[in-house]
Amino acid sequence: MQAALDLIREKAGDAPIAVGLILGSGLGHLAGAVKGVSIPYVDLPGFPHVGVSGHTPMLVIGDLEGQRVAVLGAREHYYENGNPSAMRLPIGVLKALGAHSLIATNAAGSMRADIPAGDLMLLSDHINFSGLNPLIGEKTDARFVPMTTAHDPDIRAGLKRAAEDEGMALAEGIYAWYSGPSFETPAEIRAIRILGGDAVGMSTVPEVILARFFGLKVAAISTITNMAAGMSSENISHEHTKAMAPLGAAKLEKILRRYLRDLG
Ligand code: HPA
Repeated sequence: MQAALDLIREKAGDAPIAVGLILGSGLGHLAGAVKGVSIPYVDLPGFPHVGVSGHTPMLVIGDLEGQRVAVLGAREHYYENGNPSAMRLPIGVLKALGAHSLIATNAAGSMRADIPAGDLMLLSDHINFSGLNPLIGEKTDARFVPMTTAHDPDIRAGLKRAAEDEGMALAEGIYAWYSGPSFETPAEIRAIRILGGDAVGMSTVPEVILARFFGLKVAAISTITNMAAGMSSENISHEHTKAMAPLGAAKLEKILRRYLRDLG
């Protein structure tokens, strides 16, 4: 991790960052809103070589609404190389740079008729439907991470307040992590609904676990790009996800900007 940190500090300076952000599919343009320094992941030792279209593999450090932020413009998903801890080093870097919190974003399928495509859903909690865990193999007792309030109540309240102040609805619900890369079957979606899921996606849960492991406060927001399999007649595809994500992205940017501005 030290080599990546040295390079980041050399390029971006060593003023501590406040908040880390991880951008999901089709949400990469948010990184462009930050006034600062962009460093491609390929230049950062230990950073993942992300190969999913719709993601921008850059670390951007700089000012957004008066806060010093570090934006991870792309994530490596479990489905890319079968590594649930692929984001461990970048999230550890955020902590080492001084971040107190992390906000993750993603694209997801909705299982709630009242949260349609184009809407946002703040994660109130999650279900690790995949059964995988990024801390398997960690040898210290720090691996026994409490997850009772993993989705931080204060950040969630702040994000809800920001949405309200922007005159926007922000639904809350439970996100279920499905490994991907194939989408779910309608039977799997029925099963996840019975288990209490409100939205389904292929990311974020490992990052929430890792963030808590590193002692970061964390919250996450889904942009709903489709109704989950079997819930509507629309096609489900990665193309569709990338095409629909910008609908939510504009709302997401407003909420995040307001949230950061109000952090003071
Ligand atoms: N399932 C899983 N991941 C997704 C979906 C979905 O329906 N939509 C966007 N990401």
